[in-house]
Amino acid sequence: MSLFNVYPLYTVTPVKALGSTIWDVKGDTYLDFYGGHGVISIGHSHPIYIKYVTEQINNIGFYSNSIINPLQEKLGNLLPQISEYPDYSLFLCNSGAEANENALKLSSFHTGKSKVLAFKNSFHGRTSAAVAVTDNPKITAPINSQQEVVFCELNDIENVKKEIAKGDIASVIIETIQGVGGLDEGSTEFFRELEKVCREYHVVLILDEIQCGYGRSGKFFAHQHHGIKADIISIAKGMGNGFPIGGILISPEFTSSYGLLGTTFGGNHLACAASLAVLEVLVSEHILENVQKQYEYFVKKFSSLSQIQKIKGKGLMLGLEFDFEVAELRKKLIYEKKIFTGNSSNKNLLRVLPPLNISQNEIDVLYDSLQFCLK
Ligand SMILES: Cc1ncc(COP(=O)(O)O)c(C=O)c1O
Repeated sequence: MSLFNVYPLYTVTPVKALGSTIWDVKGDTYLDFYGGHGVISIGHSHPIYIKYVTEQINNIGFYSNSIINPLQEKLGNLLPQISEYPDYSLFLCNSGAEANENALKLSSFHTGKSKVLAFKNSFHGRTSAAVAVTDNPKITAPINSQQEVVFCELNDIENVKKEIAKGDIASVIIETIQGVGGLDEGSTEFFRELEKVCREYHVVLILDEIQCGYGRSGKFFAHQHHGIKADIISIAKGMGNGFPIGGILISPEFTSSYGLLGTTFGGNHLACAASLAVLEVLVSEHILENVQKQYEYFVKKFSSLSQIQKIKGKGLMLGLEFDFEVAELRKKLIYEKKIFTGNSSNKNLLRVLPPLNISQNEIDVLYDSLQFCLK
């Protein structure tokens, strides 16, 4: 059986990885400045991660959500503390799209409305609020037609207010920093006004922190740079450092009831063990401090490259904007200098999403390689 051909592939076959280094089947080493769409937060094969996951698989890997799972409880205690949302509760699922689907669903149950307000060029997975970030005209509309979605321009608060004032919006969903869309972000003023208008009209504010959360921006959640709070926060990617896990943090305003949400695999023992290892390493190795430190080093260093028009993003969620399309540059970086980087729907933007414990030396290697490829 052939694989359903939906992914353009680089001809690299990774077989082993440690920290920011990947080995391929031929024994060549690569530096990972992409982490498979920003998933690798604490580095590949971190020893604490390996310990937690292997010990867990030797005990119990999975049972359904019909039994007591102390690992879920541990995650449910730790996460709200570390993220500074102490009174929020946690629902666990398996991916980013699922986290957002549950957030949208919960908002509809809570408000009795179904319309969603999202932002142009945003990406929330293959969900009701998915927006086209590809050239494929077949996916320029919401994928799941159960919920009507209205799209506004980022930072156009007047239009947002106008839409919300119509009274039929259940939720606003927004990435604090757009990932796949190319690292545009709302201003602090915009986010504060957005929070205010959502409160005024009892619209649920969903912050999609699937890519920009879990320390990637230099704060645990990127929206904490703006001093705002969400009603629901969706998380995935860096949460499991490669083990599939997602979830939503839910405000105490929401009432739970049996059967309201549910999943077979969500919150399974192995996923929880992986996620607990991530939290432990984030805290014990002061990873957020490293993110801020390397961000400052990166911006200072890369600002000297005259071909770069703009450095976008925060922390280690960065984009280098050029005045040309970067597809060939990415190919050169991977095949000639053995460095993984990322693309986005902005074809002139090279995305940089390394593990959050990346070192200055590794950033230097990226710099030298980029300089070489730009000649
Ligand atoms: C901001 C954001 N939300 C949601 C998703 C969807 O996550 P998943 O691919 O795990 O379904 C992504 C994936 O890239 C994302 O970047």
